[in-house]
Amino acid sequence: MKNKILKKDSKFIWHPFTQEKSSEAPILVKKAKDEKIIDIDGNEYIDLISSWWVNTHGHCREEIIKEISDQAKSIEQVLFAGFTHEPAVNLAEKLVGLLPDKLNKVFFSDNGSTSVEIAMKVAIQYWYNKGKKKNKFMAFDGGYHGDTLGAMSVGFSSGFYEPFKEIINKNFFFNFPENWFGNNQVELSEKESIREVKNIINKEKNNIAAVIIEPLIQGAGGMRICRKEFLNKLIKIFKDSGIIVIFDEVMTGFGRTGKMFALDHLSEKPDIICLAKSLTGGYIPLAATIFNEEIHKEFVDSNFKKTFLHGHTFTANPIGCSAALASLNLFAKDRTFKNIKKIEDTHKKCLSMLSKRSTIKKIRILGSIAAFDLDEDRFKYGSKPVEDLKKKFLNKGLLLRPIGKTIYLMPPFCIKKKVLEDCYKIIEEIIN
Ligand SMILES: Cc1ncc(COP(=O)(O)O)c(C=O)c1O
Repeated sequence: MKNKILKKDSKFIWHPFTQEKSSEAPILVKKAKDEKIIDIDGNEYIDLISSWWVNTHGHCREEIIKEISDQAKSIEQVLFAGFTHEPAVNLAEKLVGLLPDKLNKVFFSDNGSTSVEIAMKVAIQYWYNKGKKKNKFMAFDGGYHGDTLGAMSVGFSSGFYEPFKEIINKNFFFNFPENWFGNNQVELSEKESIREVKNIINKEKNNIAAVIIEPLIQGAGGMRICRKEFLNKLIKIFKDSGIIVIFDEVMTGFGRTGKMFALDHLSEKPDIICLAKSLTGGYIPLAATIFNEEIHKEFVDSNFKKTFLHGHTFTANPIGCSAALASLNLFAKDRTFKNIKKIEDTHKKCLSMLSKRSTIKKIRILGSIAAFDLDEDRFKYGSKPVEDLKKKFLNKGLLLRPIGKTIYLMPPFCIKKKVLEDCYKIIEEIIN
């Protein structure tokens, strides 16, 4: 049975981020519960990356499943132009209530990349509606905002982008002053980054629609962290220059950084925020881009040309909205932020021990996210050493996907301290 399914998989399916020539057959998953994924042979894997950073409260939670099932029985999908429904209205109200006052208009879509495209298109049209032509963006080097063409134009310039270089809009990038425990050079690189930003603004201010930022931590760019003091200073510069500030919280949203959103760590707030991944607890694809009133108001006009003519077929899918409401309700029931604090403390304790016994570098921790680098350059993205390492982790029951030489952990919040400690023991065994 297993072989039959895998044979068909190989015949009919094209998997993401996968080179079929060199990769092994995928793991055939049978079920999942809490932090565990179980394959058809009964092997268990601890989902230390929350299945690409989406799963918040653990797999197959009854509370979320019940809402999904109840919702599917009443209305499973309806178009969202000229129609609305209670799950979308309730979810929008809930999200606005969690965000700073001015972020109060919600545009739904279905994944992180679309939430970013919407933010970018709205930023350009905002200026257009005001009679200005501003269609360039600023972004950090090493950022990642999705795989659609607009999102790629503000993402990191890795090898992924090579074939599309010619057709991707050219934007302006500045250095990300990464920080880690024991880094005493960070202020220098922060100054350099601010100097670069000011230079770009001086030259290009009239062309720049917005800046897009993964606040406090870059995900796919290698789990790199910057200091909040720096980010506050930087955002103020953009705001003082009249540049729209977009926070891409597709990864950082919903508790990952120890607060509901990364913006809750900061005194300076964005004009637009992009949310997806954990919005539904990781159960149904759904995204939301949320705007401040000032921006939205430029689209409300008797001139039809000022309308935001954009929409996705599954915008505000009722089952997705119900899953999101159920997931948000679990934060209080599970005392999720206490659990995140426990995860953070465990990361600190275990990484401190690991650093004494292994040659690891650049330890960084933010809420439930922990990362460190291996001290060897042969661990490059897509290289055999990284694939071998991934396989060794899997063979010992850990789902980890190193980003080049960076190993990171971002478990579901239900993981118990002892389970996480045991995972670190296995990591230590393997990397040593
Ligand atoms: C910060 C950030 N933005 C956007 C995206 C794109 O999201 P999706 O893969 O759902 O399109 C990702 C995905 O990893 C992300 O980490």
